[in-house]
Amino acid sequence: MKLLLLCLGLTLVWAHEEGNDDVVTSNFDVPKISGKWYTILLGSDVRKRIEENSVMRIFMENIQGWDNSSLTFKFHVRENGQCSEISVIADETSQDDTYSILYDGYNRLRIIEAVYDEYVLFHNVNFNKGKEFQVMFLYGRTPDLSPEIKTWFGEVCQTYGIPNENILDLTKVDRCLQTRGSY
Ligand SMILES: *[C@@H]1O[C@H](CO)[C@@H](O)[C@H](O)[C@H]1NC(C)=O
Repeated sequence: MKLLLLCLGLTLVWAHEEGNDDVVTSNFDVPKISGKWYTILLGSDVRKRIEENSVMRIFMENIQGWDNSSLTFKFHVRENGQCSEISVIADETSQDDTYSILYDGYNRLRIIEAVYDEYVLFHNVNFNKGKEFQVMFLYGRTPDLSPEIKTWFGEVCQTYGIPNENILDLTKVDRCLQTRGSY
């Protein structure tokens, strides 16, 4: 079953890639991920983890990709209506395109796909107190992305066992944009 899902996932990814030479799915040029980003969609197998007041409901502002392949994420989260700014560092692990981050426990983050000047897709598994859950993050260079990319995101989520009703479109909510660049 797992293998079947993986095959399905790869087929979807390939189908999506056709006709776009800019799509990168491995050997990422990490410094090219640097710059401003907006959170577009989030998906999780545990929906409440991406709902309001959750620390995984991340509003990305800026990613810095370093030459040593580490990444720094600067983002905002909202708790009780209050936006706070957070910075974390992601260090590359021995696995390709996979990073470890200490944030609300331990996180294993993988870059799935990017078009550096358009979008980047991350898959994260959080481990905390013997529990784990997944979050899929779609970030855009612009405050919104095309319906085609959003549909594709849903298909990728499905291959990870994340159903459509567990996908949230954050382009319509307050993403703490007013606090961007205020430091
Ligand atoms: C990579 O470089 C950045 C920036 O200099 C640094 O903050 C980070 O700790 C480095 N990562 C590793 C694994 O050395």
